[in-house]
Amino acid sequence: MNYKNSFAKLLENNLDGALSLDEVLPLIEKPRYQQQGDYAFPCFILAKKFKKSPQVIASEIAENLTHPLFEQIVSDGPYINCFLNKSTFSIETLNLILTQKANYGDSSLGNDENIVIDFSSPNIAKPFSMGHLRSTVIGYALANIATKCGFNTIRINHLGDWGTQFGKLIVAYKQWGDENVVKQNPIQELLKLYVKFHDVALLQPELDDEARLWFKKLEDGDQEAASLWTWFKNESLKEFAKIYKLLGISFDSYHGEAFYNDKIKDTVQLIKEKNLLSTSDGAEVVDLSDHDLPPCLIRKSDGATLYATRDISAALYRQENYQFQKALYVVGQEQSLHFKQLFLVLKKMGYTWADDMNHIPFGFILKDGKKMSTRKGKVVLLEDVIREAIELAAKNIHEKNPTLNNQEEIAKLVGVGSLIFHDLKNERMSNIEFSIEDMLKFEGTTGPYVQYTHARACSILRKGRAYSTALNDGLDDPQSWAVIKRLSEFPEVIESSFYSYEPSVIAKYVLDLAQEFNSYYGTVKILADTKERPARLALVQSVAIVLGEGLRLLGLGAPKEM
Ligand code: ARG
Repeated sequence: MNYKNSFAKLLENNLDGALSLDEVLPLIEKPRYQQQGDYAFPCFILAKKFKKSPQVIASEIAENLTHPLFEQIVSDGPYINCFLNKSTFSIETLNLILTQKANYGDSSLGNDENIVIDFSSPNIAKPFSMGHLRSTVIGYALANIATKCGFNTIRINHLGDWGTQFGKLIVAYKQWGDENVVKQNPIQELLKLYVKFHDVALLQPELDDEARLWFKKLEDGDQEAASLWTWFKNESLKEFAKIYKLLGISFDSYHGEAFYNDKIKDTVQLIKEKNLLSTSDGAEVVDLSDHDLPPCLIRKSDGATLYATRDISAALYRQENYQFQKALYVVGQEQSLHFKQLFLVLKKMGYTWADDMNHIPFGFILKDGKKMSTRKGKVVLLEDVIREAIELAAKNIHEKNPTLNNQEEIAKLVGVGSLIFHDLKNERMSNIEFSIEDMLKFEGTTGPYVQYTHARACSILRKGRAYSTALNDGLDDPQSWAVIKRLSEFPEVIESSFYSYEPSVIAKYVLDLAQEFNSYYGTVKILADTKERPARLALVQSVAIVLGEGLRLLGLGAPKEM
């Protein structure tokens, strides 16, 4: 049932043809306060036509309006305020959720078309950084949301497994590395070697030349270089796999930068054929000065290709293989220029689909107000952070509920969930202060709080059981109304989070719903033997469904007991 539409039709019928339905609809507002109703129509636009003040118009029109779906339609200054019939609306909303269950809120916005989402994409032989964690959780949530909106979603991990840094790493390993030491603790040791390379190269710049040489060798297929690279890559993938497993995240493709090596010649050739390639200091570039952007570097003077070249190749490959309707790149804001250049080069190559590519940037993770960085070897290892969160969660859960079954499994969902939620509750462009203690609190704006509320709803349902799936009696008390109104908004919340590529919209929504439900729980005797009992239990069931689904979209589990 579309209530807003019904209100709009009712208005249109009473405006003497002053406005069409299509004109009325976008004018309808959602008042901020419940005492102003559920919809409001501002009458300013009618003043000229009717030659009366908007106040007079509002009161004259409101007088004539009645409709079974609405409890009351009254004027309030220049506005016509419309109040939903709570009983009808609650029956409809709850019945809809109970029949659709986890499919409540699904939409066909995406028309089954393909969307490719490039996210996580860590760099081989380096620790999985906090920045990559943000990309991972934001990207994964967006992938879930896109799927919910009817897209066919392709999750791509564009591994950073190619580039001049591998030349540096090979040089460092050959000079100072020890196979056994590296094997024991690959990522940490490779990072140490990499950091040492930078320190020493400051004094011995010839090391940089050597590194370039080794990367060139790697690009030309040199055996020794290739086998070192493969080793580094496999060790890194093992580490990353542990993290993805802990986070419960998977990908459809792990084609990283190196995958495009044999495709890059054709890409460069194509750019050349389109007369876009020019030389600058011996390097080949695409000039972008007509858009006030620095040139996009395609090939260095020694023939080596670059990050951007591989991204052009990757885009062509993805369009050819997935015919994507949309492409998202969930990558830190420091790469904004790179993506502007990438999209522009593709446009210049004549690909209109480049208009449907979006860079989805995000802010930094801060520790005590400062940016966390992998430079200089001062890293927090993500795996340690996740394990710490799980341990702390286990402790909290044990204190709260010592007899709970499956504590270990639940602690994992709560620990990991706290980390994910701590990120996603913020708008993605804001910087986040990292604090394990804060994120694990069972109260306030945390993942565990929402999970706990979900578990509470499940526990009431275990006790209540008897309720009918098809409700006949609705609820019209103010306590339930806040919850029901919120529940009814879930579908539009999902779409709006997709349109803005903001998982935070859903995170804030589940927080609001959890809060409203908890105050409902605090004031209403849900299980009391009254005629409202079936509807109340239906409300609880609906809350459990929507909280569970909201958490799933964000990438969190929703245990039934905590
Ligand atoms: N590996 C890159 C980095 O860590 C991110 C890659 C993002 N994706 C892309 N297609 N460029 O900075």
